[in-house]
Formats: sequence, structure tokens, C-alpha cells
Amino acid sequence: MNIAIAVETDIDETEEVVLAEVAASGPGHRLTVREVIVETEDARSIVFDIPEASTEAFAYRPGQFLTLRVVLPGGSAVARCYSLSSTPGLDAAPKITVKRIAGGAASGWLCESLEAGAQLDVLPPTGIFTVRDTSRDLLLFAGGSGITPVLSILRDALHNGTKRVILAYANRDERSVIFAEELKHLAREFPDRLLTIHLLESVQGLPSATLLAGIARMADLEGSTAFVCGPGPFMDAVERVLREAGMPRDHIVIERFVSLSADPFAAVDVEAVQAAEAAGDAIPLTVELDGEQHELAWPSGVTLLDFLRSKQIEAPFSCREGACSACSCRVLSGSVSMINNQILEKEDLDEGWILGCQSVVNGDEPVSVTYD
Ligand code: FES
Repeated sequence: MNIAIAVETDIDETEEVVLAEVAASGPGHRLTVREVIVETEDARSIVFDIPEASTEAFAYRPGQFLTLRVVLPGGSAVARCYSLSSTPGLDAAPKITVKRIAGGAASGWLCESLEAGAQLDVLPPTGIFTVRDTSRDLLLFAGGSGITPVLSILRDALHNGTKRVILAYANRDERSVIFAEELKHLAREFPDRLLTIHLLESVQGLPSATLLAGIARMADLEGSTAFVCGPGPFMDAVERVLREAGMPRDHIVIERFVSLSADPFAAVDVEAVQAAEAAGDAIPLTVELDGEQHELAWPSGVTLLDFLRSKQIEAPFSCREGACSACSCRVLSGSVSMINNQILEKEDLDEGWILGCQSVVNGDEPVSVTYD
């Protein structure tokens, strides 16, 4: 599957969704900021302390992201997603990296005002911008703050794998290169396995198709997976070049960003789920998640995500509105229909992928679903 992931981010903060107070029964965890690190003039990394009770929920894979509830000056709150730049197993605590966006209230506040010791409500890590097949080389394309999840993947691949990695990293100029020192260090430590190519707009102009195609030719496209994260036009250009160069569609993983209109911190309406269950119209449901199998009766009209979370089954999600694919899972048997789907493409649907947050049971055949 090559799902173009879409998560809310600070890329466009012009339309802000004001959140309600965090419900005690909601999915958010209150985390303390351990440290705020100045990365560049307009980028900060935020390291979190994870309380004992939240340790399991905050286990993550390289490339995933956190959703923060940011309370703005004046008291309103917005939800924003930021990728983890830390790498599990290599860093003691999870760390996100935030780039200040012109006019972005949340990223501006996080970069200018957040201090160690502050507390933030945060949703557990999620996202499928992650390496599934470690037997392939990696071809990484990052633009600007798109380096954040890419660095997490890169460090994991170098320290815990054996394959070769090519990183093409586009920036406005030398001063805007986030993690410049870290990348130099990795280049010295893994000279035979890492090739880093810096693309600076101040030197070469915007990356052209010819330049990107030249980088693609350096890789064994059949034997590699490409991960692409950055501004929309950059990702579109890279995807076009890779497809034209013959890279199979399911070898290209793209992190796309959208703004959200729902409140991901809202608690599930358990009473509504119970009312649907009481109506007695339910279909047998088998769910595989995190190596466990759950046998349930899925009432009609209730989304898979809401139903599972009403049973305290921690199915992944972020946006809850069909725009990000963090909740994606695969139907093995039975039939479901989706209320809204802005992200899965025909090939994904043909392979059985669905969005849990948008799927309701369709028909009367038992349904079997896997998240694993
Ligand atoms: Fe974002 Fe379902 S949670 S698409």
C-alpha cells in the first residue's frame, strides 16, 4: 500500500478549529515538557517526559507523529500534529520538532513561548509513514521541516539495519537546514551506507525534475522504498519523477498535510454506541490489533473506530474525519462502507484498505479486520 498520509500540521494555520475542554474520558494524555531545544532560528524540538502510566501508549515507530492540544493566548485551543524526530531505542524520550510558520498561531506559540516544565495534552503516537520492509534500501526525500519524520527513519535504518540510504534534503538556504550537525555526524559514522545530498534553493533554485530524476537514478528503484515528506509541490514533483522512473507505486510512501475540522481530543460517545447495541442490529466482528484478536458484535451505524474505543480497544486514529489514514486497516472478509474517504485511492480500496474512523458495517456477513 502506498497511502499518501495526511495529517493536520502547522503548514496551514489559517483555519483554526477551536477545541472543547479535554474530556477526562477522552484519549489525550497530559505530558510534561522536559526540554525545548533551539534547532534553527525558526525551529524548536520539544522533548516530553512520559509518565509511567502512559509508557505503553507512547511506544512509537520511526516516522510517526503526535497530536498536541495547544492552548493559545486568550484561552482557545487548537489541535496540531507534529512528527517525532526522535528514534525509539536511540533516544531516551520522545521528541517532536516544530517549525514556526508565518501567521501560524500554534507553531508560533510553541516556538516562542513554550518552556520546560509546561504541560500539554497529547494524543498517543500514530501514523503509517513507517518502514515495513527492512530488506530494502531507502531513498529519502525531505523538504524543510519534512526532515523530522525522515530523520527518525534514517537514524533507525542506519543504527538498527544494514541497508543503504540516500537522503535528498531540500532547503531554502544553509541557515534553514534543521539537524545539520546530526546529519554531518551520521555521514561520518556511516560513510559506506549513507549518501546525503543537500539541495539549497539559494544555490540551485527550486529542485527541478531533472535534478530529482538524477537522484532517483542513483538508487536501485526496484530494491528501494522511497519516503517523501515536505511542501506539497516538492512531494508532487518527487512522486512524479519516481513514477516516471519506473518505481512501483507501493514502494513510494508520502506524508501529506491537511488541516482538520474535527476535534481529535473528543471522547467517544459511549451512550450512543450502547443505544445502537441495544437496538440489537449487530454483525459478528473479528479484529486483529497489536497481535491480539478480539471477537465482538458490531452494531450498525457506529464507526469501527468509535465502536472499538467504546470497548477500550486502543485502535489508532488522528483526524477522525477520513483525511489522514492513521486509522487505516484491512478488511479480510465481510463488507463495510465508508462515510467519507479523502485519502485512500482505488488501488488501496481494491486491496481491502479502509479507514476505521469512517467505516460502518454494510450487509449481514460477519466482518474480519486486521490492523497488524
Ligand atoms: Fe484520520 Fe481516520 S483518523 S482518516
